Amino acid sequence: MGSLLFLQRMTRILIIFQVSILWVSIDVPPAEARIHNYTWEISYQYKFLDCYKKLSIAINGMTPGPAIDAVQGDTIIVNVINNLVMENVAIHWHGIRQIGTQWSDGTDGVTQCATMPGDTFTYKFVVDRAGTYMYHSHYGMQRESGLYGIIRVSLPNRQPEPFPFPYDYDRDIILSDWYHHNPYEQATNLSSIPFQWVGEPQSLLINGRGKYNCSLLGSSVDPEVCNLTNPTCSPAVLTVIPGKTYRYRIASLTSLSSFSFQIEGHNMTVVEADGTYVEPFVTQNLYIYSGETFSVLVNATQDPTRNYWATINVVSRKPATPDGLAIFNYYPNHFHKLPPTVPPPGPLWNDTDSRINQSLAIKALQGHVESPPKTSDRVIVLLNTQNTIDGKYRWSLNNVSHSLPTTPYLIALKENMSDVFDQTPPPENYNPDYDIFNVANNTNATSSTSIYRLIFNSTVDIILQNANTMTKNNSETHPWHLHGHDFWVLGYGTGKFNNETDVGKYNLDNPIMKNTVPLHPYGWTALRFRADNPGIWLFHCHIESHFFMGMLALFESGSVMVSDPPQANMGCGESKRLINNTILA
Ligand code: C2O
Ligand code: CU
Repeated sequence: MGSLLFLQRMTRILIIFQVSILWVSIDVPPAEARIHNYTWEISYQYKFLDCYKKLSIAINGMTPGPAIDAVQGDTIIVNVINNLVMENVAIHWHGIRQIGTQWSDGTDGVTQCATMPGDTFTYKFVVDRAGTYMYHSHYGMQRESGLYGIIRVSLPNRQPEPFPFPYDYDRDIILSDWYHHNPYEQATNLSSIPFQWVGEPQSLLINGRGKYNCSLLGSSVDPEVCNLTNPTCSPAVLTVIPGKTYRYRIASLTSLSSFSFQIEGHNMTVVEADGTYVEPFVTQNLYIYSGETFSVLVNATQDPTRNYWATINVVSRKPATPDGLAIFNYYPNHFHKLPPTVPPPGPLWNDTDSRINQSLAIKALQGHVESPPKTSDRVIVLLNTQNTIDGKYRWSLNNVSHSLPTTPYLIALKENMSDVFDQTPPPENYNPDYDIFNVANNTNATSSTSIYRLIFNSTVDIILQNANTMTKNNSETHPWHLHGHDFWVLGYGTGKFNNETDVGKYNLDNPIMKNTVPLHPYGWTALRFRADNPGIWLFHCHIESHFFMGMLALFESGSVMVSDPPQANMGCGESKRLINNTILA
């Protein structure tokens, strides 16, 4: 055992040295765009990510999946083999705009029919911009089973990026939450009458590792089912060399939770958000919502004779899940040596002001981000409410709860199938008398497959307006994510958005561009984007169960310019007909 640990440690040291040698010797030839060809076998496997045995989805055996590591301009080809046996799959490349490759967006019901068991689907796209992105399942609530990973894109020749400080090493941190129930039970509960909420996750994971308190399952729990000594659930380790600076690329792939992330005794400098450079700011804790990525710089300059805690804790919902813990390990301390301290508690879960303040602190690094158009062509206001529709709990936008048609939108649009989704445009505003501070009494909500059609290349503002849920004195945080584009974040506010006074306060000088942004409780968030990517794109809350309950919208623009649907994307709904026709023809 001892020699095994020694070996592991030596390999770790060797890896560290190899990375540093690479770093020194890479300034040579001008890089040519490469093609990365991956073959991913997707299968169910039993994993003990938090010491509890759970059927998880693995990519080539790994949960979370492997990192995609590429250089700006490279082409990524992923052959996805669905070996789930009884379940479809679709993989979305979150933050990659898919310019010219709309059919590879990986969204079931929008750009493709999910891939059936035994089939292979090939995604092909260019990573056109350096930054930190992610991939994950976009089929039902399947993401929760662990089908996700990080995409890291570097500048050509791995040039030092225009960060305020150079950094020595570049590392990944994937944050997630973990349920012991599978998504089928959850989906059934969410669509039952009476409604059954999924509840808080059992564990929080850092780089796919957590620790569930097995004794909660009773003293006679089978060690085959839950076992704290299982080596695969030992805490994640972030090893640092004293004096060096680390860039951590942090991605949140949670199903539900919003987090505060911190490293005990160390500040971090936030430098990147969703692939754009941030005017650096220093913070002790980083708030991160599902679907967001950040890069932070951390200097390993504290007392190197001990280890420290890296922690995540739930914010914005009353926590019922123990904090997630990793070990921030100063080399050459043993990486499993527990820090001598209690893990820092993190901020109060309901300190909304401090979360809004951090949102407001995220500005684009001057000179590195395109400025927004000064005006917009259209303003769409989206009131976020909970409703019951036919006795079921749903989430709605302006009283419309959205669902996906059985024929993917993009195929329907390209083939002029006007009967597969609702052609009436959804509402662009809500009743101005609506009281956002009281329990929703909007009983007239409806379900729809309708879409927002935007003029190609026009500039569109989206005002997300939060409100009280169906529970008294409760308003939730919703991380909204847009496919196919980045948007400028023009502002956040509390209460009801006021068209007269709030527009004047927009940040038009240095707003950050992002693809995911929080809508804070009882607040509003204003976004602007240019509809310059032909196709149809999802805009949705990144909380799995909210998405499942209809918290989504679709933006179409210039879809006539998209190439014809590849056969591989068809096979469901009305698109089956097309395949048959082609075969007959
Ligand atoms: Cu990461 Cu449609 O989402
Ligand atoms: Cu939500």
